[in-house]
Amino acid sequence: MTHDAAAIGELRQAAAVSIQAHQAGMAATRTAKTEAGVRAAIEQMIMANNMTTAYTSIVTVQDEVLHNNHYHHELKSGDLLLVDAGAETAAGWAADITRTWAVSGRFSPTQRAIYEIVLLAHDLCIATIKSGIEYQEIHLTAARVIAEGLVDLGILRGNPTDLVEMDAHALFFPHGIGHLLGLDVHDMEDFGDLAGYAEGRTRSDRFGLGYLRLNRPLQAGMLVTIEPGFYQVPAILNDRDRREKYGDVLNWDRLAEFSDVRGIRIEDDVLITTTGTEVLTAALPTKIEAIEQLISGN
Ligand code: GLY
Ligand code: MN
Ligand code: MN
Repeated sequence: MTHDAAAIGELRQAAAVSIQAHQAGMAATRTAKTEAGVRAAIEQMIMANNMTTAYTSIVTVQDEVLHNNHYHHELKSGDLLLVDAGAETAAGWAADITRTWAVSGRFSPTQRAIYEIVLLAHDLCIATIKSGIEYQEIHLTAARVIAEGLVDLGILRGNPTDLVEMDAHALFFPHGIGHLLGLDVHDMEDFGDLAGYAEGRTRSDRFGLGYLRLNRPLQAGMLVTIEPGFYQVPAILNDRDRREKYGDVLNWDRLAEFSDVRGIRIEDDVLITTTGTEVLTAALPTKIEAIEQLISGN
Protein backbone atom coordinates (compact mmCIF):
# COMPACT_ATOMS: atom_id res chain seq x y z
CA MET A 1 0.00 0.00 0.00
CA THR A 2 2.83 2.35 0.82
CA HIS A 3 6.23 2.33 -0.86
CA ASP A 4 9.65 2.27 0.80
CA ALA A 5 12.65 4.29 -0.37
CA ALA A 6 13.92 1.53 -2.67
CA ALA A 7 10.58 1.23 -4.43
CA ILE A 8 10.27 5.00 -4.77
CA GLY A 9 13.72 5.06 -6.39
CA GLU A 10 12.51 2.57 -9.00
CA LEU A 11 9.21 4.40 -9.51
CA ARG A 12 11.12 7.63 -10.12
CA GLN A 13 13.19 5.91 -12.82
CA ALA A 14 10.06 4.54 -14.52
CA ALA A 15 8.53 8.03 -14.42
CA ALA A 16 11.67 9.67 -15.86
CA VAL A 17 11.84 7.29 -18.82
CA SER A 18 8.09 7.63 -19.42
CA ILE A 19 8.51 11.40 -19.64
CA GLN A 20 11.24 10.99 -22.25
CA ALA A 21 9.02 8.54 -24.12
CA HIS A 22 6.13 11.00 -24.28
CA GLN A 23 8.50 13.72 -25.47
CA ALA A 24 9.71 11.38 -28.20
CA GLY A 25 6.09 10.71 -29.16
CA MET A 26 5.37 14.43 -29.35
CA ALA A 27 8.36 15.01 -31.60
CA ALA A 28 7.43 12.03 -33.80
CA THR A 29 3.95 13.49 -34.34
CA ARG A 30 5.52 16.06 -36.70
CA THR A 31 6.31 13.39 -39.28
CA ALA A 32 4.33 10.27 -38.33
CA LYS A 33 1.60 9.24 -40.74
CA THR A 34 -0.31 6.99 -38.33
CA GLU A 35 -0.80 6.39 -34.62
CA ALA A 36 1.63 3.47 -35.00
CA GLY A 37 4.43 5.86 -35.95
CA VAL A 38 4.02 7.76 -32.69
CA ARG A 39 3.71 4.56 -30.69
CA ALA A 40 6.95 3.27 -32.22
CA ALA A 41 8.86 6.38 -31.09
CA ILE A 42 7.43 6.11 -27.56
CA GLU A 43 8.19 2.44 -27.14
CA GLN A 44 11.62 2.74 -28.77
CA MET A 45 12.57 5.20 -26.03
CA ILE A 46 11.28 2.86 -23.33
CA MET A 47 13.12 -0.16 -24.73
CA ALA A 48 16.34 1.74 -25.34
CA ASN A 49 16.35 2.47 -21.60
CA ASN A 50 16.18 -1.24 -20.81
CA MET A 51 12.57 -1.03 -19.69
CA THR A 52 9.32 -2.48 -20.99
CA THR A 53 5.88 -0.96 -21.36
CA ALA A 54 3.99 -1.18 -18.07
CA TYR A 55 0.75 -1.82 -20.01
CA THR A 56 -0.38 -1.81 -23.61
CA SER A 57 0.14 1.75 -24.82
CA ILE A 58 -2.89 3.76 -25.89
CA VAL A 59 -2.01 6.02 -28.84
CA THR A 60 -5.22 7.01 -30.53
CA VAL A 61 -7.13 9.66 -32.42
CA GLN A 62 -10.30 7.81 -31.34
CA ASP A 63 -9.72 9.43 -27.98
CA GLU A 64 -13.13 8.43 -26.61
CA VAL A 65 -12.29 4.69 -26.72
CA LEU A 66 -10.91 4.32 -23.21
CA HIS A 67 -8.58 1.36 -23.76
CA ASN A 68 -8.06 1.57 -27.50
CA ASN A 69 -5.30 -0.74 -28.70
CA HIS A 70 -5.48 -0.07 -32.43
CA TYR A 71 -2.86 2.07 -34.10
CA HIS A 72 -3.65 2.12 -37.79
CA HIS A 73 -5.52 5.41 -38.10
CA GLU A 74 -4.01 8.15 -40.17
CA LEU A 75 -3.08 11.29 -38.22
CA LYS A 76 -5.01 14.27 -39.56
CA SER A 77 -4.66 17.93 -38.87
CA GLY A 78 -7.55 18.77 -36.54
CA ASP A 79 -7.30 15.47 -34.62
CA LEU A 80 -6.45 15.24 -30.97
CA LEU A 81 -4.07 12.38 -30.20
CA LEU A 82 -4.48 10.78 -26.78
CA VAL A 83 -1.36 8.98 -25.53
CA ASP A 84 -1.46 6.86 -22.37
CA ALA A 85 1.91 5.13 -22.08
CA GLY A 86 4.23 4.20 -19.25
CA ALA A 87 7.50 2.40 -18.67
CA GLU A 88 8.24 -0.44 -16.28
CA THR A 89 11.68 -0.99 -14.77
CA ALA A 90 13.47 -4.32 -15.03
CA ALA A 91 12.42 -4.99 -11.43
CA GLY A 92 8.79 -4.39 -12.40
CA TRP A 93 7.93 -0.90 -11.10
CA ALA A 94 5.51 1.06 -13.28
CA ALA A 95 4.67 4.59 -14.41
CA ASP A 96 1.39 5.67 -15.99
CA ILE A 97 1.16 8.95 -17.94
CA THR A 98 -1.44 10.39 -20.27
CA ARG A 99 -1.15 13.50 -22.39
CA THR A 100 -3.46 14.66 -25.16
CA TRP A 101 -2.14 16.85 -27.94
CA ALA A 102 -3.18 18.35 -31.23
CA VAL A 103 -1.72 16.52 -34.24
CA SER A 104 -1.22 19.86 -36.02
CA GLY A 105 0.55 21.35 -33.01
CA ARG A 106 -2.31 23.84 -32.50
CA PHE A 107 -5.42 23.17 -30.43
CA SER A 108 -8.65 24.54 -31.93
CA PRO A 109 -10.68 26.96 -29.76
CA THR A 110 -13.14 24.20 -28.83
CA GLN A 111 -10.35 21.73 -28.03
CA ARG A 112 -8.63 24.41 -25.98
CA ALA A 113 -11.80 25.19 -24.00
CA ILE A 114 -12.36 21.59 -22.95
CA TYR A 115 -8.64 20.95 -22.36
CA GLU A 116 -8.55 23.87 -19.91
CA ILE A 117 -11.42 22.35 -17.92
CA VAL A 118 -9.70 18.96 -17.68
CA LEU A 119 -6.43 20.66 -16.73
CA LEU A 120 -8.15 22.70 -14.02
CA ALA A 121 -9.61 19.48 -12.60
CA HIS A 122 -6.16 17.84 -12.75
CA ASP A 123 -4.43 20.78 -11.07
CA LEU A 124 -7.04 21.23 -8.35
CA CYS A 125 -7.04 17.50 -7.53
CA ILE A 126 -3.25 17.50 -7.17
CA ALA A 127 -3.35 20.67 -5.06
CA THR A 128 -5.96 19.07 -2.78
CA ILE A 129 -4.19 15.76 -2.19
CA LYS A 130 -2.56 15.21 1.17
CA SER A 131 -2.18 12.47 3.67
CA GLY A 132 -5.49 11.84 5.45
CA ILE A 133 -7.80 13.05 2.69
CA GLU A 134 -10.30 10.61 1.18
CA TYR A 135 -9.49 9.68 -2.41
CA GLN A 136 -13.21 9.77 -3.20
CA GLU A 137 -13.16 13.46 -2.24
CA ILE A 138 -10.49 13.99 -4.90
CA HIS A 139 -12.69 12.20 -7.44
CA LEU A 140 -15.65 14.40 -6.51
CA THR A 141 -13.45 17.50 -6.79
CA ALA A 142 -12.71 16.55 -10.40
CA ALA A 143 -16.38 15.82 -11.05
CA ARG A 144 -17.37 19.25 -9.71
CA VAL A 145 -14.74 21.14 -11.72
CA ILE A 146 -15.80 19.33 -14.89
CA ALA A 147 -19.49 20.02 -14.21
CA GLU A 148 -18.74 23.70 -13.51
CA GLY A 149 -16.67 24.03 -16.66
CA LEU A 150 -19.34 22.42 -18.81
CA VAL A 151 -22.00 24.70 -17.31
CA ASP A 152 -19.80 27.72 -18.11
CA LEU A 153 -19.50 26.51 -21.71
CA GLY A 154 -23.27 26.00 -21.96
CA ILE A 155 -23.00 22.24 -22.50
CA LEU A 156 -24.63 21.40 -19.16
CA ARG A 157 -27.38 23.40 -17.49
CA GLY A 158 -27.94 23.71 -13.76
CA ASN A 159 -26.12 23.93 -10.47
CA PRO A 160 -22.79 22.03 -10.61
CA THR A 161 -23.29 20.45 -7.18
CA ASP A 162 -26.72 19.16 -8.20
CA LEU A 163 -25.30 17.96 -11.52
CA VAL A 164 -22.63 15.92 -9.72
CA GLU A 165 -25.26 14.51 -7.36
CA MET A 166 -27.26 13.30 -10.36
CA ASP A 167 -24.03 11.96 -11.95
CA ALA A 168 -24.32 14.23 -15.01
CA HIS A 169 -20.50 14.68 -14.95
CA ALA A 170 -20.16 10.96 -15.70
CA LEU A 171 -21.77 11.45 -19.11
CA PHE A 172 -18.39 12.92 -20.06
CA PHE A 173 -16.10 11.58 -17.29
CA PRO A 174 -17.15 7.94 -17.06
CA HIS A 175 -14.23 6.61 -15.02
CA GLY A 176 -12.57 7.13 -11.68
CA ILE A 177 -9.99 9.81 -10.95
CA GLY A 178 -7.25 7.16 -10.72
CA HIS A 179 -5.78 4.23 -8.84
CA LEU A 180 -2.85 2.91 -6.84
CA LEU A 181 0.38 2.54 -8.81
CA GLY A 182 3.35 0.31 -8.01
CA LEU A 183 4.41 -3.10 -9.24
CA ASP A 184 1.28 -3.18 -11.35
CA VAL A 185 -0.27 -0.27 -13.17
CA HIS A 186 -3.58 -0.79 -11.37
CA ASP A 187 -1.66 -1.94 -8.37
CA MET A 188 -3.00 -4.97 -6.50
CA GLU A 189 -6.21 -5.03 -8.54
CA ASP A 190 -5.69 -8.75 -8.96
CA PHE A 191 -7.10 -8.87 -5.43
CA GLY A 192 -10.32 -7.23 -6.62
CA ASP A 193 -11.11 -4.27 -4.37
CA LEU A 194 -9.34 -5.74 -1.34
CA ALA A 195 -6.50 -3.25 -1.62
CA GLY A 196 -8.37 -0.42 -3.33
CA TYR A 197 -11.28 -0.21 -0.91
CA ALA A 198 -10.99 0.34 2.83
CA GLU A 199 -12.43 -2.43 4.97
CA GLY A 200 -16.21 -2.37 5.00
CA ARG A 201 -16.47 -0.28 1.83
CA THR A 202 -17.84 -1.56 -1.44
CA ARG A 203 -18.34 -0.06 -4.87
CA SER A 204 -21.16 2.43 -5.22
CA ASP A 205 -23.87 1.61 -7.72
CA ARG A 206 -23.92 5.26 -8.81
CA PHE A 207 -22.95 5.91 -12.45
CA GLY A 208 -20.68 8.73 -11.28
CA LEU A 209 -18.91 6.81 -8.48
CA GLY A 210 -18.99 3.11 -9.30
CA TYR A 211 -15.87 3.18 -11.50
CA LEU A 212 -13.68 4.46 -8.70
CA ARG A 213 -10.82 1.96 -8.25
CA LEU A 214 -9.55 3.42 -4.96
CA ASN A 215 -11.66 4.45 -2.01
CA ARG A 216 -9.46 4.94 1.04
CA PRO A 217 -8.00 7.77 3.03
CA LEU A 218 -4.63 8.58 1.48
CA GLN A 219 -1.45 8.10 3.50
CA ALA A 220 2.20 8.99 3.10
CA GLY A 221 4.05 6.53 0.86
CA MET A 222 1.09 5.80 -1.41
CA LEU A 223 1.52 6.48 -5.13
CA VAL A 224 -1.70 7.29 -6.97
CA THR A 225 -2.61 8.54 -10.41
CA ILE A 226 -4.68 11.64 -11.08
CA GLU A 227 -6.33 11.32 -14.46
CA PRO A 228 -9.44 13.39 -15.12
CA GLY A 229 -10.89 13.27 -18.60
CA PHE A 230 -13.65 14.35 -20.94
CA TYR A 231 -14.95 12.03 -23.66
CA GLN A 232 -17.86 11.88 -26.05
CA VAL A 233 -18.66 8.17 -25.94
CA PRO A 234 -21.52 7.41 -28.36
CA ALA A 235 -22.67 4.38 -26.34
CA ILE A 236 -23.15 6.63 -23.29
CA LEU A 237 -24.52 9.73 -25.00
CA ASN A 238 -26.92 7.78 -27.23
CA ASP A 239 -28.23 5.54 -24.48
CA ARG A 240 -32.01 5.99 -24.44
CA ASP A 241 -32.45 5.93 -20.65
CA ARG A 242 -29.66 8.42 -20.13
CA ARG A 243 -30.96 10.72 -22.84
CA GLU A 244 -34.24 10.78 -20.98
CA LYS A 245 -32.71 11.19 -17.51
CA TYR A 246 -30.34 13.97 -18.58
CA GLY A 247 -32.53 15.48 -21.32
CA ASP A 248 -33.12 18.70 -19.39
CA VAL A 249 -29.53 19.29 -18.28
CA LEU A 250 -27.68 18.62 -21.53
CA ASN A 251 -27.68 21.17 -24.35
CA TRP A 252 -27.24 18.98 -27.42
CA ASP A 253 -26.95 21.85 -29.87
CA ARG A 254 -24.14 23.39 -27.87
CA LEU A 255 -22.41 20.01 -27.49
CA ALA A 256 -22.50 19.55 -31.26
CA GLU A 257 -20.20 22.56 -31.58
CA PHE A 258 -17.50 20.53 -29.76
CA SER A 259 -17.46 17.63 -32.20
CA ASP A 260 -13.67 17.96 -32.68
CA VAL A 261 -13.19 16.99 -29.02
CA ARG A 262 -13.62 13.24 -29.01
CA GLY A 263 -11.66 12.83 -25.80
CA ILE A 264 -9.03 14.39 -23.56
CA ARG A 265 -7.24 12.91 -20.53
CA ILE A 266 -4.34 14.29 -18.51
CA GLU A 267 -2.69 11.81 -16.13
CA ASP A 268 0.15 12.19 -13.64
CA ASP A 269 1.63 10.03 -10.87
CA VAL A 270 1.42 11.59 -7.42
CA LEU A 271 3.37 10.38 -4.39
CA ILE A 272 1.85 11.27 -1.03
CA THR A 273 4.55 12.37 1.40
CA THR A 274 4.52 13.31 5.06
CA THR A 275 4.65 16.99 4.12
CA GLY A 276 2.47 17.06 0.99
CA THR A 277 2.91 15.51 -2.42
CA GLU A 278 5.50 14.98 -5.07
CA VAL A 279 4.37 14.61 -8.68
CA LEU A 280 6.85 12.09 -10.09
CA THR A 281 5.81 12.95 -13.65
CA ALA A 282 5.66 16.75 -13.25
CA ALA A 283 8.52 17.40 -15.65
CA LEU A 284 6.26 16.54 -18.59
CA PRO A 285 4.29 19.72 -19.35
CA THR A 286 0.52 19.85 -19.14
CA LYS A 287 -0.09 23.46 -20.21
CA ILE A 288 -1.31 23.98 -23.78
CA GLU A 289 1.42 26.43 -24.76
CA ALA A 290 4.23 24.12 -23.61
CA ILE A 291 2.68 21.11 -25.33
CA GLU A 292 2.18 23.06 -28.55
CA GLN A 293 5.85 23.99 -28.44
CA LEU A 294 6.94 20.39 -27.93
CA ILE A 295 4.82 19.25 -30.87
CA SER A 296 5.92 21.95 -33.25
CA GLY A 297 9.52 21.88 -32.06
CA ASN A 298 9.75 25.69 -31.95
N1 GLY B 1 -3.12 3.22 -18.31
C1 GLY B 1 -4.28 2.74 -17.66
C2 GLY B 1 -4.83 3.72 -16.75
O1 GLY B 1 -4.54 4.90 -16.88
O2 GLY B 1 -5.53 3.44 -15.82
MN1 MN C 1 -3.97 5.29 -14.83
MN1 MN D 1 -2.92 5.63 -17.92
